[in-house]
Amino acid sequence: MTSLKKGLEKKTNDIIRATKPSQILALNKELRSVDDIVMLTVGEPDFNTPEHIKQAAVQDILNNDSHYAPSRGTAALLSAAASYLKKKYQLDYDSETDILVTTGVTEAIFDVMKTLINSGDQIVIPQPTFPVYASAAKVCGGQIIDISTAEDGFLLTADKLKTVLDQNPCVKAVVIASPGNPTGAAYDQQQIQQLAQVISQHDVFLISDEIYSELVYDRSHVSFAKALPKQTILMNGISKSHAMTGYRVGIIAAPAEIISQIAVVHELIDTALPDVTMAAAAEAFSNGIDDAKSMRQEYKKRRDFLISAFKKMDIDFVHPDGAFYLFFKIPDYCDQNSLRSVRQIAQEARVGLTPGAGFGAEGYLRLSYAASMADLETAAARLEKFFVKEKEKITLS
Ligand SMILES: Cc1ncc(COP(=O)(O)O)c(C=O)c1O
Repeated sequence: MTSLKKGLEKKTNDIIRATKPSQILALNKELRSVDDIVMLTVGEPDFNTPEHIKQAAVQDILNNDSHYAPSRGTAALLSAAASYLKKKYQLDYDSETDILVTTGVTEAIFDVMKTLINSGDQIVIPQPTFPVYASAAKVCGGQIIDISTAEDGFLLTADKLKTVLDQNPCVKAVVIASPGNPTGAAYDQQQIQQLAQVISQHDVFLISDEIYSELVYDRSHVSFAKALPKQTILMNGISKSHAMTGYRVGIIAAPAEIISQIAVVHELIDTALPDVTMAAAAEAFSNGIDDAKSMRQEYKKRRDFLISAFKKMDIDFVHPDGAFYLFFKIPDYCDQNSLRSVRQIAQEARVGLTPGAGFGAEGYLRLSYAASMADLETAAARLEKFFVKEKEKITLS
């Protein structure tokens, strides 16, 4: 290991130095070392990328498509993305001015925060949620206003948002993910209208992460951008819908004035995405618009199985409208510290879960059902046995 010259340790950016790397990867490594564990921790599809998309990638390489592409994305991809958003969610975006391609939604989140935030600006983030929003906002100098949603079915209510926006005139943006990670909860048409009504009365942006839009189970996905096109910065992609997390393609769609500014950040970070992943993404958005259907059916079966299993165990959980997570309350007869509980469950029940604390909800655990039905059945049986034993311990003591 090369060590740094003494005196340079504190010369880096203060916020970066204070930001801890994600603990999730280290925890996953620790859990995986438990013999015969069923790992239900991953936040990515367990399916393969559809064949026609892989072929498009191969063909792109064979065509020697190996030069710097336009920074905002190839014309083919931008136009495929615009027509996908139109066909799927009835959104009107001009591919030449209103869309930008990023390295996954992860880069999109950073680009948007960097574009919007001046030091000290406030960003409203309903909790629990994907932790990258707050980390990216803080790295860009923002301050976070958390709103707890636990008392409201894990969805932000229009009343709570109105109170926060009325009291905090320095709010720059509100971040909403629907369906959300870790809860799978999604906003319906009426809830979207109510929130849009509140936001439209303030000069704030809505950053809407709709990466799980194709994984909504009992109704169609409704986009916030439909209700609030002039204020919404929409983020979506192919990671979850087309089982393409490793291709790293996300999109941002928003009014042209904001896209042209986000493009400045994107170009500095990335120059452009790889040609090959953009060719694959263009294929996904144009000829794969229903690729998610069979995966969605499979996830729905798994979700329904888990709903019955957790009801049988008498464990409270958030109703999962979408995504592939079951977010449940640690029963009161167990250790409420989610990290300790995850470790105990891994050792004693051989099931790998993710602590709720990492998403802003201590006392909860996240189970990912991006796993085979056989694994889910084994995990449910093991968890049931574990919880019965824990309950007995309390009753006997
Ligand atoms: C809500 C949410 N947004 C964004 C991402 C990251 O997406 P991408 O793989 O496209 O960077 C994830 C990944 O788990 C997520 O859960």
